[in-house]
Amino acid sequence: MATTCVIREVSKHVGAEVRIGCWLHNKRKSGKIQFLQLRDGTGFMQGVAVKTELSEEAWEAAKSLTQESSLYVTGVVREEPRSKSGFELTVTNVEVIQITQDYPITPKEHGVDFLMDHRHLWLRAPKQRAVMAIRGQIIAAVQQFFNDRGFTLMDPPILTPSSCEGTTELFHTKYFEEDAFLTQSGQLYMEAAAMALGKVYSFGPTFRAEKSKTRRHLIEFWMIEPEMAFVDHDENLRVQEQFVSHIVQSVLTNCKSELETLERDTSKLEKVVGAFPRITYDDAIKFLQEKGFDIPWGEDFGAPHETAIAEQYETPVFITHYPTKIKAFYMKPDPSNPDVVLCADMIAPEGYGEIIGGSQRIDDPELMAERFREHDLAAEAYQWYMDLRKYGTVPHSGFGLGLERTVAWICGLDHVRETIPFPRMLYRLYP
Ligand code: 4AD
Ligand code: MG
Repeated sequence: MATTCVIREVSKHVGAEVRIGCWLHNKRKSGKIQFLQLRDGTGFMQGVAVKTELSEEAWEAAKSLTQESSLYVTGVVREEPRSKSGFELTVTNVEVIQITQDYPITPKEHGVDFLMDHRHLWLRAPKQRAVMAIRGQIIAAVQQFFNDRGFTLMDPPILTPSSCEGTTELFHTKYFEEDAFLTQSGQLYMEAAAMALGKVYSFGPTFRAEKSKTRRHLIEFWMIEPEMAFVDHDENLRVQEQFVSHIVQSVLTNCKSELETLERDTSKLEKVVGAFPRITYDDAIKFLQEKGFDIPWGEDFGAPHETAIAEQYETPVFITHYPTKIKAFYMKPDPSNPDVVLCADMIAPEGYGEIIGGSQRIDDPELMAERFREHDLAAEAYQWYMDLRKYGTVPHSGFGLGLERTVAWICGLDHVRETIPFPRMLYRLYP
């Protein structure tokens, strides 16, 4: 009896007969030999079916296979240095589950809209599989990083009564008789969690009704948000550089074949270790003006500005101390200059833009109350948040890493739409 096996594990079965549930990715015939490109989700592998060594029935079954037909293949695992996986299957039997007719995604080139309409099938393509495997590895690395450092995973709510990152991009819904919004960020709840457990992080979906149709924006994206009691701005940045280095190095170690499938230049990723450079907003503005950008002090950076700054470095770079008036209400002003806040955006190299936004939070109840008035935020809705400053306030900091932008950067993709299984974008809610 052949052992049941998956492609990723065939190396453990060299010389043995195995049975694998799979799909036909592609097929090539040369006289009395059929070369079956098989995929089973864990990897890709070639099966070699030789007419003279197979039953008539098995040979005909192999012949009937079309692209994306499903089958059980049985065969003997052989080492094959010329193949990408290092192994090959000498086919001994083929059991057809279904012969697929007219699979829409053929090996020819398709437009992005067509592929997006068929996202449920496009996910099977080698490149898309590689991106999803790397996304999974990034998530595993995130969990490992925080587990090793005594953080507790806490889940903030998805349905919320108020906003975290400004009111213009909220997704509105009815909550029985009340109004509710899909969360933009779990941060405010994570601040409460940090006062209860010290070091916490969340990992969940966040929603922004942003009318931006760029290669960096999704309507629904996943964020990792750590929050740490008794941690100041400086230490916050140190955690971030260790965190991002750990993620990148973990993908380099564990996803070699996927990075190869994506033809990623890994020498660029290898440099992402150690301390990252820091530049203040003031210096960034001066630098941009010298480069000929027409940007006055006090304006926020757009993608071209971020790219120009990031080009100066091989690792991600922190831009710190943004003007108070362009940042969120909860950020702590710099005690030596209250016109700027103790915050940082982490900008990824190679033009991938901001992957982290973070800050030290206001811990003074009076200043917080003032900010609520300035930002026109209803005090009743944030009563509970004020309580965190009223009952044992402490210095604390945190940040949010956008998962999809991180995946795009590490995979070297042009657009975030390929970084999430089913992207939600300005003009796309299907499939
Ligand atoms: O800079 P942002 O808005 O920060 C916050 O939400 C804070 N409350 C986080 C915190 O301190 N706990 O968003 C954080 C990150 C960005 O740097 C970016 O990577 C990602 O979330 N992001 C998006 N990713 C995809 N599509 C969008 N529309 C995004 N908006 C933000
Ligand atoms: Mg931001």
